[in-house]
Amino acid sequence: MQYTSVALSALTLLGVSHAAPAVKRQATLPAPPATQQSIVNLENTIVYLTNDIVQTNQGNAENDFNTADSQFTGIEKSVTTGSCPPLIYQGEITTAEGAITALNTTQNNLAQLSLDLQNTASSQDTINNDYCTAYGTFFATKNYIFTILGTSQNGASNKAVAETVNSEGYDPNKLGQTWTATEVALEALISALNNIPSGQPASSEAKTAFTNAENTIATFSKAADASAPHSCPASTAPGATDPKSAIDDVYVVERTAQSAYSDTTANNGQTLNDFCKIASYMSAVNAYVKA
Ligand SMILES: *[C@@H]1O[C@H](CO)[C@@H](O)[C@H](O)[C@H]1NC(C)=O
Repeated sequence: MQYTSVALSALTLLGVSHAAPAVKRQATLPAPPATQQSIVNLENTIVYLTNDIVQTNQGNAENDFNTADSQFTGIEKSVTTGSCPPLIYQGEITTAEGAITALNTTQNNLAQLSLDLQNTASSQDTINNDYCTAYGTFFATKNYIFTILGTSQNGASNKAVAETVNSEGYDPNKLGQTWTATEVALEALISALNNIPSGQPASSEAKTAFTNAENTIATFSKAADASAPHSCPASTAPGATDPKSAIDDVYVVERTAQSAYSDTTANNGQTLNDFCKIASYMSAVNAYVKA
């Protein structure tokens, strides 16, 4: 690998998007199931890494970063035609929010890579570029994870979820982190569901992604002061019967998570309704996933 270890930050990547390596061969398209599975496994690792940051678990974060890094290398070998151009970043990630936001972007870049690997019309340049963008965004979190997470420089983010609540009852320190972490987990679930051919039962990666999403939502609801159990109206969301209808349900969960975040910060009394709706659409997804 030829990555320049510039451990600087992420959100704007310069020199990555236009400088794909020279084409030496074409990746096999659509990519074999094993390649798609390895991308979902990596996305699940990114979910664990995000959770380590939310929980300030520095040791686990280093391990999960290293696991993800080697999973990236495996994928690089099977789908790209060369090394990525030097990574040049603007700014530096110094906060948990910044790192989690970069991991959310990584997850979306990986979802794009997975989709482009399913499309026989994708060019090798597109695949290389997807990969290098995902890797660059992920790698930008390294300095934060190895030198800031858990130190005093990490500030209030070192506190546990719901350790510091405001007069409205929610944890303003962790609400944004746990909301973005929920998006990171839901994105992995969508990718896992996208890889299942219609008519097939859920894969083990999808079951794992579902459990991870449930755990992440539970942490988000804790930060929002809406932890279960609470009484919700009976669910009206019909159970999903195939990957496609399950994905549509996950989209509803994503949009409702966004509402849960904004309703909580607005303190408008809608937060519990939002989490009830999230629970009912997650049950609808589970009707397919557990079948
Ligand atoms: C996560 O990424 C998606 C896709 O890029 C974006 O739409 C969403 O706003 C991001 N979420 C946060 C909280 O940054």
